[in-house]
Amino acid sequence: MDARRIACLDAMGIPTWTRRADRQLPGAPEPLHAVQAARVASTQAEIPVAALDWDALADTVSGCLRCPLHAGRTRTVFGIGSHQADWLIVGEAPGAEEDRRGEPFVGRAGRLLDGMLAALGYARDGVYIANVVKCRPPENRDPRPDEAQACAPYLDRQIALLEPRIILAVGRVAAQRLLGTDSPVGRLRGKVHRYGAGGIPLVVTWHPAYLLRRPEAKAETWRDLVLAASAARQGATEAVTA
Ligand code: URA
Ligand code: SF4
Repeated sequence: MDARRIACLDAMGIPTWTRRADRQLPGAPEPLHAVQAARVASTQAEIPVAALDWDALADTVSGCLRCPLHAGRTRTVFGIGSHQADWLIVGEAPGAEEDRRGEPFVGRAGRLLDGMLAALGYARDGVYIANVVKCRPPENRDPRPDEAQACAPYLDRQIALLEPRIILAVGRVAAQRLLGTDSPVGRLRGKVHRYGAGGIPLVVTWHPAYLLRRPEAKAETWRDLVLAASAARQGATEAVTA
């Protein structure tokens, strides 16, 4: 109902009713969850996750309500880096600092990860970094398998869009999610696995948070990184000669 008509009816002492959405104060933002839900509904109704481009995928994740972790987040942590990167680093979940800033691996563990990448000759923006789940679990607990599964289409789509030469799975949660196994990191690290139908090389190593507690494991992680670098190079050679 337009404003002039309401004013006329008011002046005549006739009560008016308006739909809830029309009753908002001018300039007042809609509640965030309503905006997010509408955006998700419109995106997901039209296009399956496996067909989204980078922007639509990030948009869908930002409004995602697929698992209970959405309730505790300040913001989603989608992932960051170059869409042309050869390396994809996969961690487990945002922590407190990541949840505040919306960027993966920016806390203490992240600084260690940056140092390890720098030792390989990579700056942070030369790789792509993402997590198994995009929302922070309460009290930094590990994401549960059902939460990892709920979030899986997003990470799988990130991998499909990126087509990395090498995936480095840091820690148990990432390794087990991407390889579909229950084996511990100690048994998975030190060899080249394959991810998905495309057979992308995947190397497992210790999580940087674990290395902060057990610095003596850094030597093993360094060997894993060297193995990953060589698998990435080999992939590049195969692509050239194929
Ligand atoms: N920060 C992240 O973004 N992921 C982890 O796995 C740990 C810290
Ligand atoms: Fe959605 Fe993943 Fe966040 Fe769960 S963790 S609400 S599936 S984005």
